[in-house]
Amino acid sequence: MYGNDFIDPDEPLNAAEFGDVDDAVAAAATTAAQRAEGGSSFEALLAADQRIEPRDEMPEAYRKTLIRQIAQHAHSEIIGMQPEGNWISRAPSLRRKAILMAKVQDEAGHGLYLYAAAETLGVDRAELLDLLHSGKQKYSSIFNYPTLTWADNGAIGWLVDGAAIMNQVPLCRCSYGPYARAMIRVCKEESFHQRQGFEILWTLSRGTAAQKDMAQDAANRWWWPALMMFGPPDTGDAATTGGHTAQSMAWGIKRFSNDDLRQKFVDMTVPQAAKLGLTLPDPDLRFNEETGHWDFGAIDWSELWRVLKGDGACNAERIERRVGAHHEGAWVREAANAYAARHDLGQQQEYVA
Ligand SMILES: [Fe+2]
Ligand SMILES: [Fe+2]
Repeated sequence: MYGNDFIDPDEPLNAAEFGDVDDAVAAAATTAAQRAEGGSSFEALLAADQRIEPRDEMPEAYRKTLIRQIAQHAHSEIIGMQPEGNWISRAPSLRRKAILMAKVQDEAGHGLYLYAAAETLGVDRAELLDLLHSGKQKYSSIFNYPTLTWADNGAIGWLVDGAAIMNQVPLCRCSYGPYARAMIRVCKEESFHQRQGFEILWTLSRGTAAQKDMAQDAANRWWWPALMMFGPPDTGDAATTGGHTAQSMAWGIKRFSNDDLRQKFVDMTVPQAAKLGLTLPDPDLRFNEETGHWDFGAIDWSELWRVLKGDGACNAERIERRVGAHHEGAWVREAANAYAARHDLGQQQEYVA
């Protein structure tokens, strides 16, 4: 058995597989073709659902919001390498090691596309990394939870990558061109991540009693943090005031509210848990015939705030590791800069000659 034959490969298993990403690719081509007909103001481009490109004029607040969001996204990709990276040497077979290594490497690539997208807004990636290392910019709080067993790699792929895809598919149509284009490629790769996670749990839940328990335990620990990945609720006591949601929606950066995306994720994931033979740790989970959606229990928002503020199991460890990797990589950056400088010089000399 290799690949996706554990489940019908034509049956969508995550939000990137319902055709929205392909629709976004087609829409991008159409809008790009229309765009060539003439320049427009920021407002006119937004109104026409056109992409804003780096050469276009844009309000300073739009630029700053995007830098913050793209940087936080990039930071999450590279910090997100750690929880699974620490399992590469312990993955249970050569095949699992190869798959996990490819997955972790993809996350590094996602970080690169995103730092490059942020740089088109006039910021330097070194600056952004400094902000991450000094704690002035955040990454997704999900990566402050530990990966205790092999099954956690399955739960991360299935739930964490699954939730990330749900968030990222609408970003394929984000108003800022470089971010939208990066998201198209990211979503395609994330889809593979989600399937590999599902397959790990599928295999474990059909194994020995101990393996099944391990899968169940991982699902129990990752379910609620995955739901928190969509951010605080849009209404009610736990909603944050002064948030950027309304403005981000007006700017075409955000397309759906946090609660809408969370509900879509729950609706998609509950039947998958049943297929896996796993239960989700929520006694209030039940299908609501009237709304056609799965109702779920109250989320403990104090946990999200606690982990975000630095009190998760792994906050200190993740940053320490990141800063260490940055220092250890100094010689690579120096070498790359020296090579680039020599290459530039070579080109200049060629030009002179
Ligand atoms: Fe990623
Ligand atoms: Fe991923």
